[in-house]
Amino acid sequence: MARCGVRSASTSRAYRVGRIDSVPKPSLSSRAALLQPSPTLGITAKANAMRAAGEDVISLGAGEPDFPTPDAVCEAAIQAIREGFTKYTPTGGIAPLREAIAAKLCAENGLSVSAGQIVVTAGAKQALYEAAMVALEPGDEAILIAPYWMTYAEQIRLAGATPVAVHTRQEEGFQPDLDELRQAIGPRTRAIFVNTPCNPTGAVYPHQTVRAIADLAVAHGLWIVADEIYERLTYDAEHHSIAAMSDAAAACTITVGGCSKTYAMTGWRIGYAAAPAHVASAMTNLQDQVTSNAVSFAQKGALRALSLPREQVETMRQEFRARRDLIIQCLAEIPGVATTLPQGAFYVLPNVREFLADGESDLGLAERLLTEARVAVIPGSVFEAPGHLRISYAAGRDQIRAGIARIAEVLSKVAR
Ligand SMILES: Cc1ncc(COP(=O)(O)O)c(C=O)c1O
Repeated sequence: MARCGVRSASTSRAYRVGRIDSVPKPSLSSRAALLQPSPTLGITAKANAMRAAGEDVISLGAGEPDFPTPDAVCEAAIQAIREGFTKYTPTGGIAPLREAIAAKLCAENGLSVSAGQIVVTAGAKQALYEAAMVALEPGDEAILIAPYWMTYAEQIRLAGATPVAVHTRQEEGFQPDLDELRQAIGPRTRAIFVNTPCNPTGAVYPHQTVRAIADLAVAHGLWIVADEIYERLTYDAEHHSIAAMSDAAAACTITVGGCSKTYAMTGWRIGYAAAPAHVASAMTNLQDQVTSNAVSFAQKGALRALSLPREQVETMRQEFRARRDLIIQCLAEIPGVATTLPQGAFYVLPNVREFLADGESDLGLAERLLTEARVAVIPGSVFEAPGHLRISYAAGRDQIRAGIARIAEVLSKVAR
């Protein structure tokens, strides 16, 4: 018997295929047409090609820690493979990992969640995608606080909804204005995405801001998608989880995190979502039809990562902090480059409008820096921050010094 919603095909007529060019061609879906290659890929591909041709290119574009994955994590995964832990696991993740994530969120983030509310995903990106797919309807709007990580907008569009940007300002430390957020809420608004610490601005929202956004979302019956992937990388600021603000906030928040940034595990593809039980279950059902479980032995590695002594992460965090101070100092020496002090993640987003040649965009400037300075950075437009560049300090101190010096040299040639 056909399942509900599945049409049984008529098998009575047979078609004969003639010449191939007379056969009607299928077209791509409108969904596929929505997906444009990111300009980041273009810059990265060009940087790689230059490097392959023997050129000395400095990459300050990367969105991943340059540290190796901790040995203990690698050993746990290797051991899991040796022990034959290489088969399907439950879609939402192995029980000990879900329990460890729930325990971490309760102890460190002030959430009140159980293992049944956790979905282990192939990176935080998959958790965000599933969140968009289960929370949004076609025709809905979802608020993004700009500048934002571009994947949110693409995933919102894939869910058939429309991203609505509420802009923040560099002179205000890229902190959101609550009145502007309130004004952006309309009858179609269904969700607000909150990313603190933020990629690309490095802003970390203080408690009162997180609390106010939570109250606003609750008052308007919105979902909150809280991307907390950089939670452990803060400097002079404390991270606050929005789901911990109130029971009402917890009831409408999908908290997303993962191992990629905290434990230098970007390639392992382990992320997670913590959500009300019915939401976690909907996300698991979706994942069941798309990818099934995150890689079995990577889950074992993640389990080990979660039990690492805090000092191990602390060493990486302190190094990021030193690099942040270094890059800010180097940028401050370039007259005309305006930056704010990032308090989290590992990016700076300087305003470089003064250095754009006539009619040039930040995309053009990023291309020019790659060609003339042999430094790869990401144009701000990718993050809805035109006139800016996103510079990553997930690179060694020598690379940072040399990279910014090269950028300064190219910029010094621009008549301001
Ligand atoms: C803000 C933000 N969220 C999520 C992700 C994705 O993390 P993952 O590699 O775990 O999918 C990234 C990666 O760059 C990111 O910058």
